[in-house]
Amino acid sequence: MKILDGKKISNDIKEEIAVEVAQMKERGEKVPHLAAVLVGNDGASLTYVGSKVRSCEKIGFESTLIHLPEETTEEELLKKVEELNANPDIDGYIVQLPLPKHINEEKVLMAVDPEKDVDGFHPVNFGKMALDMESFIPATPFGIMELLKRYKVDTEGKNVVVIGRSHIVGRPISILMSQKGEAANSTVTLTHSRTRNIEELTKQADIVVSALGVPKFLKESMIKEGAVIIDVGITRVPDETQKRGYYITGDVDFENVEKKASFITPVPGGVGPMTIAMLLKNTLLARARHNK
Ligand code: GUN
Repeated sequence: MKILDGKKISNDIKEEIAVEVAQMKERGEKVPHLAAVLVGNDGASLTYVGSKVRSCEKIGFESTLIHLPEETTEEELLKKVEELNANPDIDGYIVQLPLPKHINEEKVLMAVDPEKDVDGFHPVNFGKMALDMESFIPATPFGIMELLKRYKVDTEGKNVVVIGRSHIVGRPISILMSQKGEAANSTVTLTHSRTRNIEELTKQADIVVSALGVPKFLKESMIKEGAVIIDVGITRVPDETQKRGYYITGDVDFENVEKKASFITPVPGGVGPMTIAMLLKNTLLARARHNK
């Protein structure tokens, strides 16, 4: 079994980007500027956004955190989005999800300028991605593709089972892996809560991508010998004995599944860090595209 070390690969990618940023600075060019909008005080979102901003600083990007109170109205948030669209200094930005219940998420995501949509959540980007056109690929599936590429995992003609049909992970990764190209050319089955006999499908899979959010869902008995396991789950399990009051766990019963897998991503330290690295990559791409 080999660990797909997302922490290491994400650090490699960040170093590569940092080198490019340093060269941009030397040439007297504007460096990429990422903004993040966070509404409210959701614990996980605060952690993610903080981590994104810190990563920007480390690699030499400019970053702006716009932290709005929980009571922010939809109208106020849409106004902020319009400001970011109009601000030429901002190359790309994200609106951290989930948004408070009183705000229509779809309406907000639709208002983001697709050329600044470094999350790749706007329908224009999703559509372009599905049609193999230049777009912004959502950071988590983009990170999974990059991890598979850098470890030279053979995906050609392989059976891939994706668990979960979310717009952010399951749906886009199923599209990307079925496309032509490196880390792709796979035969993909997209499974979800209404799938029958999921075990029969996962047992046939050369690669399983689990993006469900149910701790230890994927058991050793559900996979075949030598399968590649990508665990996208990040669940906070309350635990008083932990300093933070919780521990983080994935969808995969790691201790047992690792014995049977050929490659596996750990949680934490697998797909999670890749997501941030690819968001930075998208921001670098946004800067370059705005220069065109
Ligand atoms: N919430 C969970 N994952 C993400 C992400 O990749 N981007 C944004 N904006 N919100 C999220």
